[in-house]
Amino acid sequence: MESNDPKIVCFMCNWAFCQNETEVPSNVNVVRIMCLGRVDPVIVLDTLANGIDGVMLVGCKPPDCHYQEGNLQAERAIKMLTKLVALTGLEPQRIKLVWFSPLDEKNFEYYAKEFSKEIGKLGSSPLQSKDLSSRLKVNMLAAKNAASDFRLRVLLGREKELTEGVNVYGEKLSQDEFDELLDEIVKEEFVRHKIYVLTKTKPLSVKDLAEMVEMKPAAVLRQIVDMRRKNMIALDHVKGQTPLYKALEVK
Ligand code: FES
Repeated sequence: MESNDPKIVCFMCNWAFCQNETEVPSNVNVVRIMCLGRVDPVIVLDTLANGIDGVMLVGCKPPDCHYQEGNLQAERAIKMLTKLVALTGLEPQRIKLVWFSPLDEKNFEYYAKEFSKEIGKLGSSPLQSKDLSSRLKVNMLAAKNAASDFRLRVLLGREKELTEGVNVYGEKLSQDEFDELLDEIVKEEFVRHKIYVLTKTKPLSVKDLAEMVEMKPAAVLRQIVDMRRKNMIALDHVKGQTPLYKALEVK
């Protein structure tokens, strides 16, 4: 591996794994898993947070999956992950989903080299820098917390049911409507967890938070009301006439 080759981690389904290990370029570290559907989005975010330049996710080409629809579940999770990464300020192109079959004309080495070229154009991950701005660190932490949030996981798990089935009123969501809903909820969860991460270190006012999360104070206040209801945050003290809020430890 050349010193300037990008560092890539590839989570690869065992069933799609290439038999010939020489096909794996030396800058790519392959982690074999039983099915791509088993990849936890939090692990992918952790990998990026540790300064890896790019993450490849390789699953069996649909409709093949030995665990029914693990590959399609993974596709939905990666869609959510890409949206979250874009909110952190890191380039979402650092995550790539590849469908692969050992019977493909193109071998794994081809896909790995193509991805390395794409990542090479982006340059090293800013998360490798020692003078990392605290903003990116906070954002990555907020993204990880949001990815493990129950509400997002439930929504992803219900995509098929919501877009293919009909509800009790005989309605179903179009794919575009579902994507819009996912966008909205991903943003909401990201902001909520960012407020949580920021107020964990010190109490902050709505005005401070509005500047930090680049939102209107009224929108931040709405999030705080909701977070108080969920026992994520509480009033710490009042300075002058300004209430300051602090994150509560999750038990
Ligand atoms: Fe390969 Fe599910 S078994 S993606």
